[in-house]
Amino acid sequence: MTLQDKTYIVTGASSGIGKATCIKLASEGASIILVGRNEETLRQALADMTQQAGQTHYTQCCDLALPETIAPAMQQIKNAVQRPVDGLVYCAGIGGVIQLRNTKPETLHARMSVNFYSFLEYIRQLAGSKQKNQEMRIIALSSLASTTHSQYFSAYAASKAAVESAVRTLSAELMRKNIYIFSIRAAFVASPMTLCLNAFTEGGFDQHLRETGKQPMGLLSTDHTSDFIHYLLSSPTAPYMTGTNIPIPAGTPC
Ligand SMILES: NC(=O)c1ccc[n+]([C@@H]2O[C@H](COP(=O)([O-])OP(=O)(O)OC[C@H]3O[C@@H](n4cnc5c(N)ncnc54)[C@H](OP(=O)(O)O)[C@@H]3O)[C@@H](O)[C@H]2O)c1
Repeated sequence: MTLQDKTYIVTGASSGIGKATCIKLASEGASIILVGRNEETLRQALADMTQQAGQTHYTQCCDLALPETIAPAMQQIKNAVQRPVDGLVYCAGIGGVIQLRNTKPETLHARMSVNFYSFLEYIRQLAGSKQKNQEMRIIALSSLASTTHSQYFSAYAASKAAVESAVRTLSAELMRKNIYIFSIRAAFVASPMTLCLNAFTEGGFDQHLRETGKQPMGLLSTDHTSDFIHYLLSSPTAPYMTGTNIPIPAGTPC
């Protein structure tokens, strides 16, 4: 299945996995609505994307810490993009480790809002606006952290476990509407989110993961991850996997 004539919303489009996804999907012919908070970084991502005849990309600034901004943002998309939206790749996320003493209600709320509540609100809006015979695919970036025991990851892990639970439980309802939903449970990926971990590891985080056996194949690249996303959006057989949370463990037992 080609992505020509398809239009996808990609959140977290300004950086890391989201940016790599925009580049990959655009190279396969799709039009992209790039969502992030900063117009300048979205424009930088846009500059790296192919844009051929029949493709039109849009940027949209939206703070996903505020799920209530999604309904007006979707209306804006409807007015600006004269074609149906074929799906969502939800890459926006807040990572980082937090010790229990700093896991305050407001910190948790901020993380849950970006990582989970806004994801759910997008699904609600997309399902409500979908044309009758159209197929839609939705992918969220989750993490192996949702089920591992890494210390200081409790807030992040809980937000990703919520995403995975939503994917499982919503799939039956969405399937009837011809909407297919997945999450990708990625191991550590080389992106700005993990770069900061280099500071805590002698020789770098990638080497640390390989040497300790925590992730024997080392950091995934953002291109590895966007390849899997491309598969889930383009394969005619991927809908049979709806409701699943698909691991990319890079050698980590899972
Ligand atoms: N890196 C990993 O090892 C790894 C592993 C497994 C899963 N994941 C997941 O993969 C996804 C992408 O991560 P990444 O590694 O690509 O991280 P990244 O490079 O840090 O990118 C995070 C993205 O989220 C966006 N974002 C953050 N807060 C936002 C907000 N309030 N409103 C709108 N957008 C917001 C950022 O956009 P702006 O700041 O420009 O607005 C940025 O584009 C995340 O959900 C992450 O949890 C990452």
